[in-house]
Amino acid sequence: MDSSNFRALTVRKDNGIFTRAIEQRSSNDLPAGDVLVRVLYSSLNYKDGLSATGNRGVTRRYPHTPGIDGVGIVEESIAGHICKGDEVIVSCYDLGMNTDGGFGQYIRVPQEWVVPLPEGLSMQDAMAFGTAGFTAALSVHKLLCHGIKPEQGPVLVTGASGGVGSVAVSILAREGFHVVAASGKDAADFLLSLGARKVISREAVNTGAGKAMLRAKWSGVVDTVGGNILAYGLKTTKPCGAVTCCGNVASGDLPITVYPFILRGIALLGVDSAECPLELRKQVWQAMAGQWKFDHLATLATEISLAELDTYIDLILAGKTRGRVIVNMQDI
Ligand SMILES: NC(=O)c1ccc[n+]([C@@H]2O[C@H](COP(=O)([O-])OP(=O)(O)OC[C@H]3O[C@@H](n4cnc5c(N)ncnc54)[C@H](OP(=O)(O)O)[C@@H]3O)[C@@H](O)[C@H]2O)c1
Repeated sequence: MDSSNFRALTVRKDNGIFTRAIEQRSSNDLPAGDVLVRVLYSSLNYKDGLSATGNRGVTRRYPHTPGIDGVGIVEESIAGHICKGDEVIVSCYDLGMNTDGGFGQYIRVPQEWVVPLPEGLSMQDAMAFGTAGFTAALSVHKLLCHGIKPEQGPVLVTGASGGVGSVAVSILAREGFHVVAASGKDAADFLLSLGARKVISREAVNTGAGKAMLRAKWSGVVDTVGGNILAYGLKTTKPCGAVTCCGNVASGDLPITVYPFILRGIALLGVDSAECPLELRKQVWQAMAGQWKFDHLATLATEISLAELDTYIDLILAGKTRGRVIVNMQDI
């Protein structure tokens, strides 16, 4: 395998039908860019499932290779500070959206998208975190910057067994928070092993529709699902607390009144990993390689081959994956 003949999961659109298969590709098929990277590992995120099934909010151009994450070795670079042989992470921005992504054994990207693999993280570790883990870390970073502290009371994580949720539980526990994990799965043992102090059902947090406010319980919330569950989080956060919002697997709607904001001073903190500025991106990755690198990172992730991706794309869209899924791009 070399850059003139490599494999990539390719999604095609024919007569409105989306199909996917592993195809032979060449670097000539890749977009123009500053840095050519041989991808050794990628990871599966919910957004990849959307890209692989024709979601126009994510991808408009087909044929296309999804994969919003990739880690590997630089093979060619016209950027002075990035050299052949460097180990790098590329994630977010437009990778895997309308730029061919990490489910190909090679990617070519602008230099601004390239982050050096931090010391202390292996390539597998980096993808065990991946965009979902980075988003979880960015969510925790925002709560901490807002001044939320462990002694102020429990924090809630929703969609807790998913990629963002499971890493958020782990990092918050590492920061000393009393974490309450809400999950729709039978995942209590898994979540307790990540450091959650209590596991509650999805139904318990999908309540209170129609009520302006509910009893305050949490100092902060990391919400990964949106919809009524995000509204519940806002209605049940203690005065001056904060709620992060990154996802829409439950719904893109937010059925809420202004009262949590004007009667309790709740802050709603949006989290966008895709356009996170490079300096903050590097800072958060450094934290993930340092104080936020938890012992069970490897057990949080399931490693699959490129050939198994097809099945796992269906699973993540059905909300049936647990923790993180990393893709060994050499294993086909
Ligand atoms: N803003 C950003 O920069 C950014 C970056 C990464 C991801 N995201 C978004 O964050 C969300 C989570 O991503 P992910 O990678 O963690 O996905 P994931 O691994 O599929 O996890 C999502 C979890 O949400 C729960 N869930 C699934 N369907 C649900 C439903 N209908 N109602 C309520 N809960 C449901 C499930 O957890 P339980 O079974 O434990 O409840 C599922 O495991 C997605 O919407 C994704 O697009 C945003």
